[in-house]
Amino acid sequence: MNPWAEDFPILNEKMNGKRLAYLDNAATVQRPVPVLRAVDEFYRTENANPHRGLYELSVKATERYENARHTVKEFIGADKDCEVIFTRNASESLNLVAYSYGLNFLHEGDEIVLPVSEHHSNLVPWQMVAQAKGVKLVYLYPDKEGRLTDDEMEKITPKAKILALAHVSNVLGSVYPVRKIADKAHSVGAVVVVDCAQSIPHFKVNVKDLGADFMAFSGHKMMAPMGIGVLYGREELLNKMPPFLRGGEMIEYVHEQSATFAPLPQKFEAGTQNVGGAVGLEAAIHYLQKVGYDKIAETEQALLNYTLDGLAEVPHITVYGGTKNRRDRCGVISFNVDGVHPHDVASILDADGVAIRAGHHCAQPLMDYLGVNATCRASLYFYNTREDIDQFLSSLKRVRGWLGLGT
Ligand SMILES: Cc1ncc(COP(=O)(O)O)c(C=O)c1O
Repeated sequence: MNPWAEDFPILNEKMNGKRLAYLDNAATVQRPVPVLRAVDEFYRTENANPHRGLYELSVKATERYENARHTVKEFIGADKDCEVIFTRNASESLNLVAYSYGLNFLHEGDEIVLPVSEHHSNLVPWQMVAQAKGVKLVYLYPDKEGRLTDDEMEKITPKAKILALAHVSNVLGSVYPVRKIADKAHSVGAVVVVDCAQSIPHFKVNVKDLGADFMAFSGHKMMAPMGIGVLYGREELLNKMPPFLRGGEMIEYVHEQSATFAPLPQKFEAGTQNVGGAVGLEAAIHYLQKVGYDKIAETEQALLNYTLDGLAEVPHITVYGGTKNRRDRCGVISFNVDGVHPHDVASILDADGVAIRAGHHCAQPLMDYLGVNATCRASLYFYNTREDIDQFLSSLKRVRGWLGLGT
């Protein structure tokens, strides 16, 4: 019995008749009962369209929504509530920056610098800006241990107008030294866009400490419902940017031929918002704080070491990213089994109740750089146990034999 199963009943589910070992937390984590209850309670007792009605229920819904914004603001260390824009997910947040900032403030000859390990969400939008504006994409390449060396950072020159990088790579698990790179980017006048989708579920993120001008994350990777995300932006930057999506609620006044726009944050929140999601996100933040990042880090680091040590004992395995350097990495472990397609590995493990991800992980340029088409990925969260890892390792040991290959 998983010690967290009371809060996360799904962990008690059986898969293919076996105990579930859920190791796909980098894709999405599970939601605890307090988050489910908060969303349920909102829809049962407080649901109305916020910012629209003058009646009490709508005022209540508005309060819940704006309280959630305030909780996020405190959680990430922003200066003001209006610097927190609710979106659907990290992808939408990053698109907002690319469309609204990138297309309007970058010019031919400028450069956008980004690690080759970026998730497509923090890469494809920048390709769009590069193609539309004649801007060059300059890539930083991590070393074998998944680190970005000082030499790579030399590529950040005064031509750089955007530095876009993930705090944690969703394939290598590397924790990039965001502050150091952001300082370098700021010294040449670039704007720093940090994708915290894979970091904020695991450790404290403070936008000031990171040196982020923009910061994006998704609720569903930190126990909130799917469909709610956040973009943080410095007020000065957000103020000068045009709206991303247009329509209801984001206007000040609309004439037949033109419109003026609402102040922040409404300027970037067109249409009816995901208030239930925002309420769930607030509950998830409270839950995270109750568990505590110290405990999360301690549990995950111990499990990471246990997993990497266990993998080192399994023949025919290649692990990508840091194996010696375990301090600057998180519990996202990409690997391959010699001679076996990652999809086959994932299917065989699934039959044993082990849920891992297999594929390119929305990081195809990184796959090319690593010289593979795909990898398997096991990713941890604090509710995982050694039993999960033992189940994973013992299933993995059977993979090659199952396919008639030497073990
Ligand atoms: C590092 C990183 N950035 C962005 C995303 C995109 O998140 P979403 O699909 O919630 O928009 C992911 C999702 O896996 C991710 O791992």
